[in-house]
Amino acid sequence: MVVERTWLVANWKMHGTRARAGEYARQFGEALAATPAVQGVFCPPSLYIDAAKAALPGTSPLALGAQDCHKQGDGAFTGEISARMLADVGAGYVILGHSERRQHCNETCLDVVEKAQAALAAGLTPILCVGEREAEYEAGQTQAVLGRQLEALRGLEVGRYLIAYEPVWAIGTGRTPRVDEIAAAHAQVKSTLGSTVSVLYGGSVKPNNIREILAQPQVNGALIGGASLEIESMLAMLVLAAQHEGL
Ligand code: PGA
Repeated sequence: MVVERTWLVANWKMHGTRARAGEYARQFGEALAATPAVQGVFCPPSLYIDAAKAALPGTSPLALGAQDCHKQGDGAFTGEISARMLADVGAGYVILGHSERRQHCNETCLDVVEKAQAALAAGLTPILCVGEREAEYEAGQTQAVLGRQLEALRGLEVGRYLIAYEPVWAIGTGRTPRVDEIAAAHAQVKSTLGSTVSVLYGGSVKPNNIREILAQPQVNGALIGGASLEIESMLAMLVLAAQHEGL
């Protein structure tokens, strides 16, 4: 069951060390314990999830997540990691369909749905990424692209996943859409999949812009890449998210 709070998800991508992941989880978890209106999820590289888990007390509010999983439960898939294995080392969430995987690993909408089904079967909450590329944005095709990506997700049970709207051209570039464009995209997600779906925004979220992004009524949180790598920057965004919740 997905709880309605402001979500802050840290996506470390292929960065960090085992020691840093543990220390980061400890500090992030401690800060979250003082801000109950914010739900935090830390997604380090998969092989550091257990180190992050080990650094947290059993009562920690910080959840852990992975950045991908395989669509099969187990089998002869050299180098792959299943959703069940991620759950086994302490993950509760998994980012799926990130544009870096759609682009570089040729992941299709069908792959994303199959991975989401595997994640749900393993008890993980998928964080499903959608978003248009730069040329599509420039051509005014955002709504059509999102429409296709969201249509593929309609079979999944509402309430068991989160959506992250991440315009591909905003990821790691320092550029973001206007807030009214973010609001429109989030409204489209909710009108397609259901008003109760939590929708996070991702793409160049930083301490200096998170406040205005979270202020949009349709925005339920943020998926943060580059600015999540340093704990100081993450904790600054946590404070701003908590202020947004009025705590
Ligand atoms: P960014 O990445 O915050 O570095 O733009 C976001 C993401 O890829 O999830």
